[in-house]
Amino acid sequence: MTTSTPELVLHDHDAAGMHELRRLLLTVYTEVYAELLGNPFFAPDRFWERLEAYAKWPGFELVTGWINDELVGYTLGYTLPDRSGWWRGFRGDVAPPVLEENGRRTFAVTQLMVLPSRQRRGYARRLHDELLAGRPEERATLLVKPDNVPARTAYLSWGWRMFGRLQPFDDAPVYDSLMYDLEKGHASATG
Ligand SMILES: CC(C)(COP(=O)(O)OP(=O)(O)OC[C@H]1O[C@@H](n2cnc3c(N)ncnc32)[C@H](O)[C@@H]1OP(=O)(O)O)[C@@H](O)C(=O)NCCC(=O)NCCS
Repeated sequence: MTTSTPELVLHDHDAAGMHELRRLLLTVYTEVYAELLGNPFFAPDRFWERLEAYAKWPGFELVTGWINDELVGYTLGYTLPDRSGWWRGFRGDVAPPVLEENGRRTFAVTQLMVLPSRQRRGYARRLHDELLAGRPEERATLLVKPDNVPARTAYLSWGWRMFGRLQPFDDAPVYDSLMYDLEKGHASATG
């Protein structure tokens, strides 16, 4: 599906589409995460490996945002598989069944970024809403660094709630784990 406004044009992609956009996706990533690239975890090759791993899962979806054919931001995610390892490293006060995955329950949003020069124009909100629109899962989850004020502020204002903390890999930061109720459809469509 493709939608457009006077400025931002959104496109949905599957895994094959993501691979075709490799160069442009990495160009945006290196600009958005320029200050972190010295950290091996954030190196572009490691980032692309993570994207390739996400893209192998069912339910993978990438939404890109374009202005005059320039890629200015994107978001992506996938459905957590049956007995997913996603919740390994979770620290929080929830009953164990809440962390059980059956391959249909949870959509994991693993990236959302907008070029610095294009931020604060509502583009991330539009990418986010497009990604979550029509998802068949009951809930969505994501990880955000506790000191990432722009992203945390945005997510909490879009209906996400704090769920716990999670460190996905030994050399990864400890993230805030956020949850979003897809069945209630907290995020309203914009644009
Ligand atoms: C987080 C990010 C995607 C937001 O993109 P954006 O296009 O500027 O976001 P939007 O314009 O759609 O929404 C902005 C909302 O986010 C919040 N926000 C954005 N930047 C903010 C800042 N510097 N300080 C406080 N709140 C901020 C506000 O709630 C804002 O709404 P408002 O403009 O109506 O006040 C962007 O800052 C980014 O790419 N950051 C780097 C990558 C990143 O950290 N991604 C999230 C990983 S979990």
